[in-house]
Amino acid sequence: MDGFDHMGEVVLGISGASGAIYGVRLAQALNELGIGIRLVVSDSGRITLKHECDTTPEALAEEVGAILEAQANIGAKSASGSAPIDAVVICPCSGTTLGKLAAGIGDNLITRSAIVAMKEQRKLIIVPREAPYATVHLENMAKLSGWGTVVIPASPGFYNHPTSIDDLVDFVVARILDQIGLEHTIGKRWTGEELDE
Ligand SMILES: Cc1cc2nc3c(=O)[nH]c(=O)nc-3n(C[C@H](O)[C@H](O)[C@H](O)COP(=O)(O)O)c2cc1C
Repeated sequence: MDGFDHMGEVVLGISGASGAIYGVRLAQALNELGIGIRLVVSDSGRITLKHECDTTPEALAEEVGAILEAQANIGAKSASGSAPIDAVVICPCSGTTLGKLAAGIGDNLITRSAIVAMKEQRKLIIVPREAPYATVHLENMAKLSGWGTVVIPASPGFYNHPTSIDDLVDFVVARILDQIGLEHTIGKRWTGEELDE
């Protein structure tokens, strides 16, 4: 089930921060929910996808039925201001892509799609990952947050007692789906009764 009142489409940008698995799992979850995906992977994202998940953008797109658009194709539909795009999610989001967004730079399809989301007041969600964060990262996140971007750190919670990497990844993916506005059953929701058990 999706929360859109029309056939939804989500742009998923995978940039070159560690944590490619979050992007892979998000793509799978969106596909399971019947949401159309436009997938864009940066050159560095291609490297982390291979190194961390042993997959390629092409294989991932085929697995989840996504339309794969080239990062260099600045004129692709993902960057269209008039196309019915419901949300743009950059997961994971590198410090480089974060910095470009904070400076208003849309020099590739991921950054341009995000800038278009800002100007069209579409939902824009970024999932930064770095450790530790430099002040410039923190200032850029604050700037984007102030402009309406949802910043979801790649920081799973542990209050539901995760027992696997999948549980940890799902925690973050569930928060992303919540913010897109999609109904889902991934992960356990806090009920308020847990501390009494
Ligand atoms: C294996 C690997 C892991 C990386 N991990 C991170 C990371 O966690 N966070 C980050 O901001 N950059 C990370 N980088 C560096 C980015 O890939 C690099 O800054 C690049 O310019 C990002 O470009 P993009 O935003 O266009 O993908 C990593 C690079 C490699 C090769």
